[in-house]
Amino acid sequence: MSLESKVKTALDEIRPILQQDGGDVELVAIEGKTVLVRMQGACSGCPSAKLTLKDVIEDKIKEACPEIESVQDADAEPEPQEAPGHSDPFEGRKPIPGVKSIIAVASGKGGVGKSTVAVNLALALKKAGKTVGLLDADIYGPSIPSMLAIEDKPETDGEKLNPIKKHGIYVMSMGFFLETDTPVIWRGPMIMKALEQLIRDVNWGVLDCLVVDLPPGTGDAQLTLVQTVPLNGAVIVTTPSDVALIDVRRAIGMFSQVGVPVTGVIENMSYFVCPHCNEETDVFSRGGGKKIAAEMKVGFLGEIPLDQAIGKGTDQGNPIVVADPDGAQARAFLSIADKISSTL
Ligand SMILES: Nc1ncnc2c1ncn2[C@@H]1O[C@H](COP(=O)(O)OP(=O)(O)OP(=O)(O)O)[C@@H](O)[C@H]1O
Ligand SMILES: [Mg+2]
Repeated sequence: MSLESKVKTALDEIRPILQQDGGDVELVAIEGKTVLVRMQGACSGCPSAKLTLKDVIEDKIKEACPEIESVQDADAEPEPQEAPGHSDPFEGRKPIPGVKSIIAVASGKGGVGKSTVAVNLALALKKAGKTVGLLDADIYGPSIPSMLAIEDKPETDGEKLNPIKKHGIYVMSMGFFLETDTPVIWRGPMIMKALEQLIRDVNWGVLDCLVVDLPPGTGDAQLTLVQTVPLNGAVIVTTPSDVALIDVRRAIGMFSQVGVPVTGVIENMSYFVCPHCNEETDVFSRGGGKKIAAEMKVGFLGEIPLDQAIGKGTDQGNPIVVADPDGAQARAFLSIADKISSTL
């Protein structure tokens, strides 16, 4: 006998009992190991007050067909179910007391100039009159201390660490605590813990903006940051090349997915400026950053040239915004800082 016939026979057996009370039951469908029935009436003859009409029908069907696991009322309102992974992964987000806004500088791909942008952007925001902090969230490869030529170690007030003040901005980095050339070989949870401490156990004071330099990609540091603090925005740095742009999509996608607004895209190494004649050459596909920003419906913040002075500035611990504050390169960063300021 087919499963359907067995279920129907079981229902035929129970129906006369239900009909004595004016009730009825009919088979609607069998879906896998679940039987859907439509039923009416009460269960005056139920052996226990705790048993419902559905329980009695279910017992009868299961007795006849042990392969059936549940019986559902086809007319019942679906029970509200929490989505899988229902606990809010961001309920731990807490602002940093005194810090008005937090902006992350991110990229999908490594080596596109995030740290260069983060340092110069922080200095440009300072130049625009803001009180600025700079957090180096690259635990594996912190580069902010060398980009700002900081050799001091942060001091503690007994409870929290004091950030190091350089060029008027307040800086914290894992690099302050590591010996140079010692690779960090930590696993994810340790990275997360270390980053949380760099965020929470620091006397940031009152800041208009904390700029966070992220490591490349969409890994533990990114996740920790978005889960730990409410970000006001993420700035995505890319080069104009196609390979980097694929990763831009991924980075924008990640921030959008976790509810962090993408402030905009910066195209770094956009074009080459000849140090001798200042002629501009489009070495890569200039304009790629603008295109992807339009495609992904996020803002475009500006182009930064591939420029010897910018590279040398960061590599020698003298960022261009302080080394040549009135030059064209610094102006590119200042114009981006203005756009970001207007979103804060
Ligand atoms: N606009 C630029 N012009 C010239 N050189 C640049 C420019 N931007 C970055 N660089 C140089 O490129 C190198 C990589 O830059 P940076 O360290 O800022 O990249 P990153 O994206 O932070 O790298 P990582 O992914 O490793 O953190 C550095 O040597 C830096 O000086
Ligand atoms: Mg970096």
